[in-house]
Amino acid sequence: MKWILIFAFGEFFVTKFLSCSLTETTSAWTYHYSKVPMNWTKAREWCQINYTDMVVLQNQKENDYLISILPVRRQSPYYWIGITKNKLNETWTWVGNNSTWIGEDSWAANEPNNNHSTEFCVEIYVNKAANRGKWNDEKCANKKYPVRKARV
Ligand SMILES: *[C@@H]1O[C@H](CO)[C@@H](O)[C@H](O)[C@H]1NC(C)=O
Ligand SMILES: *[C@@H]1O[C@H](CO)[C@@H](O)[C@H](O)[C@H]1NC(C)=O
Ligand SMILES: *[C@@H]1O[C@H](CO)[C@@H](O)[C@H](O)[C@H]1NC(C)=O
Ligand SMILES: *[C@@H]1O[C@H](CO)[C@@H](O)[C@H](O)[C@H]1NC(C)=O
Ligand SMILES: *[C@@H]1O[C@H](CO)[C@@H](O)[C@H](O)[C@H]1NC(C)=O
Ligand SMILES: *[C@@H]1O[C@H](CO)[C@@H](O)[C@H](O)[C@H]1NC(C)=O
Repeated sequence: MKWILIFAFGEFFVTKFLSCSLTETTSAWTYHYSKVPMNWTKAREWCQINYTDMVVLQNQKENDYLISILPVRRQSPYYWIGITKNKLNETWTWVGNNSTWIGEDSWAANEPNNNHSTEFCVEIYVNKAANRGKWNDEKCANKKYPVRKARV
């Protein structure tokens, strides 16, 4: 496994090459974030420019990797990730392929709490506190940094 870091205009790109020696296939993703906080809808639109989408996490390793590459923030706003729902009792669903993966330990303590009755979007804490890398349900109208994922 090798990690390649690329710095570019106003954006930070991280390219991940995952090689599987058994099948000889290589799949690679890049993760980018915007330095401008946006509400979730706007954030997804930003992510979709150039045919990509908001980040979809599919296992703990990918979650850990993502938080290892994003700049640490001391306080809110943190980063939007591409998992959402439309109604209170709906299942949390990832954008793009409707995956419903949620790790056993993904939510922060006492989350999701639907504190405002309408917390249907999810942020990921990238800080140095105990909840680093954990998820929190938030109002979609709040402004946070978009993170997108694209194939190399
Ligand atoms: C989209 O791609 C163009 C051409 O590569 C690039 O100049 C532009 O910055 C990209 N926009 C975003 C939001 O990634
Ligand atoms: C959903 O898409 C993500 C990439 O955006 C991919 O990693 C994942 O394997 C997909 N999950 C399913 C169930 O297709
Ligand atoms: C959601 O589920 C809870 C308990 O499962 C139930 O009490 C509540 O009425 C449901 N709300 C809606 C809007 O369906
Ligand atoms: C995901 O679910 C939505 C709403 O049910 C549906 O319109 C869409 O086609 C689904 N996408 C995929 C890739 O299955
Ligand atoms: C719920 O929201 C209120 C008002 O925004 C805030 O003061 C409070 O700390 C929140 N509670 C939790 C458990 O997040
Ligand atoms: C999101 O932001 C856009 C542009 O700033 C605004 O037009 C839109 O009404 C906002 N949507 C929500 C749900 O806050």
